[in-house]
Amino acid sequence: MDAQRETLRSLFDAVADSYDQVGVDFFQPIANGLVGELDPQPGERALDLGCGRGAALLPIARAVGPTGSVVGGDLSPVMVAQATALAAEEDLTQVEVLAMDAQEPDLGSVAGDGFDLLSASLVLFFLPDPGEALARWRTLARRGGRVGVATFGPPDPTWNSIDALFAPYLPPQLLDARTSGVAGPFESSSGVEGLFTEAGWRDARSTETAVPVRFEGPDHWYRFTMSTGQRGFWGLTPEDKRAGIREAATRIIEDAAAPDGSVTFSQGVRYTLARNP
Ligand SMILES: C[S@@+](CC[C@H](N)C(=O)[O-])C[C@H]1O[C@@H](n2cnc3c(N)ncnc32)[C@H](O)[C@@H]1O
Repeated sequence: MDAQRETLRSLFDAVADSYDQVGVDFFQPIANGLVGELDPQPGERALDLGCGRGAALLPIARAVGPTGSVVGGDLSPVMVAQATALAAEEDLTQVEVLAMDAQEPDLGSVAGDGFDLLSASLVLFFLPDPGEALARWRTLARRGGRVGVATFGPPDPTWNSIDALFAPYLPPQLLDARTSGVAGPFESSSGVEGLFTEAGWRDARSTETAVPVRFEGPDHWYRFTMSTGQRGFWGLTPEDKRAGIREAATRIIEDAAAPDGSVTFSQGVRYTLARNP
């Protein structure tokens, strides 16, 4: 595994225990929107790439039901274990979760005649070569099968000003559209759609929406950052700079706060769907 994927694997292993469990509605509403766009039907076979704890995987499993099936794959073995456990808790026997690299998923016989639908919620921009990954994913879809991904839409200016505090300490690849949406294919709907079209998918189209994200206050925001990929930002920031960033973020949040001390940011989300010819 190369250094970029090894870094992501250990980052998501580290956050998995608190990921999406700190009382912030973020990953689940974003994944719910993607599943709504893909509209899985009873009996369908699905593949959810970068499934995490199952924010998209589990609703897809409920929708395809016991006559369908869903394979989830994630680079992080801890995420794989958590998604497996959550599926078992609900007795979703149609779910199978595998350790898998979404850049070049190797599914062997599990792919069968091809999946009816493929999904990836907040994953594509983490991959070393998203366009090449989309071409590989297409080989896993049946003819006429569909794919849907969630990526980030325009950032909230206030939230963005907090993220910008980390900018001096982040490597260039974390400053591009993968996280900031300011350049590259993830900057616009047409950019993301172009990745699909170049990879041989047809009829790529996007819808944009925004999800309200509420923090009880600065400490809640901090706990959230430590439970997501953003924990990597803290890790890249020199230790002697971290307290200063936290203080500056606290001031920004307090300035934007409602009378009860909470702050609600708006997270732009883009859903891009396409079909296999
Ligand atoms: C932001 S999380 C999204 C997880 C889940 N889809 C959700 O909506 O909650 C990104 C996930 O992608 C996984 N990931 C990152 N790079 C990957 C890769 N090359 N192959 C498979 N999974 C990867 C991470 O381990 C993490 O679980």
